[in-house]
Amino acid sequence: MLLKNKTIVVGVTGGIAAYKALELTSKLIKSGADVKVVMTKSATEFVRPLSFQSLSKKPVAVDTFDEPNTWEIRHISLAKSADVFTIVPCTANVIGKIASGIADDMLTTTVMATKAPVLIAPAMNTNMFENPIVQNNIEKLKSYGYEFVMPTEGRLACGDTGQGKLSDINSIFDKIVCLALSKNTDLKNKNIVISAGATIEKIDPVRYITNHSTGKMGFALARAAYQRGANVTLVAGSNRCNKINGVNQIDIESAEEMKTAVMTASKNADIIIMSAAVADFKPNSFSDEKIKKSGADHITLELTRNPDILKELGEKHGGTKTIIGFAMETQNLIENAQKKCAEKKVDFIVANNLRTEGAGFGTDTNVASIVSQDGSTIKLPKMSKLELADIILDKALECSKNCKIL
Ligand code: PMT
Repeated sequence: MLLKNKTIVVGVTGGIAAYKALELTSKLIKSGADVKVVMTKSATEFVRPLSFQSLSKKPVAVDTFDEPNTWEIRHISLAKSADVFTIVPCTANVIGKIASGIADDMLTTTVMATKAPVLIAPAMNTNMFENPIVQNNIEKLKSYGYEFVMPTEGRLACGDTGQGKLSDINSIFDKIVCLALSKNTDLKNKNIVISAGATIEKIDPVRYITNHSTGKMGFALARAAYQRGANVTLVAGSNRCNKINGVNQIDIESAEEMKTAVMTASKNADIIIMSAAVADFKPNSFSDEKIKKSGADHITLELTRNPDILKELGEKHGGTKTIIGFAMETQNLIENAQKKCAEKKVDFIVANNLRTEGAGFGTDTNVASIVSQDGSTIKLPKMSKLELADIILDKALECSKNCKIL
């Protein structure tokens, strides 16, 4: 449970995106957080407090003078309880009030009284967002240390197109996690390169060779590393994941392209993790035109070896940078992983077996063993890919302390 023992106060203001705060509340609760919701009166015109109350299992604060316990001043106790205070969505009006020191309702008095990090996710009409008064207010709040997840571009509820759409909930959630766990920034100043997803080897303009990797494992590693304060470069092959705000993603297709991107990024890296499923072979040649059937019953596709990126990383940076590989096996998992660990000169291998239930391609969970250079093996139970990512990063950090500094 990522946010166990963390209290997140979610402020909701009156905008059409207010309903999206329900999704955020649900996501925070599923991550173990204690969520307390404060709404402005206008927000309650868009979504009823009862919806938030049902999700958070707590009364929703709207009216400053509606004190539930006589012995506590509610906005002060709410403000003090927050590990992170977020306002999702935040209107131009509330941004303006906070920037001007106006505290005239439950939400603005509570946010004024908090010492927790405040994360604001604005959402409004483009013209309002671009208005220099709103922009100045945002800059002013930033200068006081308020954090923002900026709105994205898109078609807005009013029919206009432009910047003003509430940022996606996953990005807001990631930033909240980042702030909530900010005491655990053990990867701060670490440069981490992670490969994820499947490579694609083109046969002709229509066809290609690939595999079943969805990128979930690699993206979980990137997300966990980012949440712990690392500078993350994610070299992503074909995948089914959303981009992660704050992570530098380099999209590639083939193993050769992955090699170029990983080798370049690894120059400044402290830790390199190859979780991508890289094609060992590619077609001998690429046909510029679509290959025709021409009445043939069968054709032969000649393949040639792709570079072994992990092996080249081990040869170039082994001992000076922390290098982690994965092993995807269908049999003799530990033996094969031990062989790969020794041959490729990496610090450790995360071995997973495609045949194990809940492990491997496309699943949200994995069942892995960590096989180290020294021959030791840690067998891990089934867990989410994000939890596994944290265990891999813990081990990587431990290894990086033993790296020689050149
Ligand atoms: O993306 P998901 O759907 O979440 O699935 C996750 C995963 C199953 C892809 C992941 O957990 C995993 O096991 N990744 C490694 C898959 C793989 O290619 O295994 P391998 O045993 O063939 O390769 C061993 C290691 O060498 C891997 O670190 C691989 O990235 C690397 N390699 C392989 C071939 C090659 N030409 N160059 C490489 O660098």
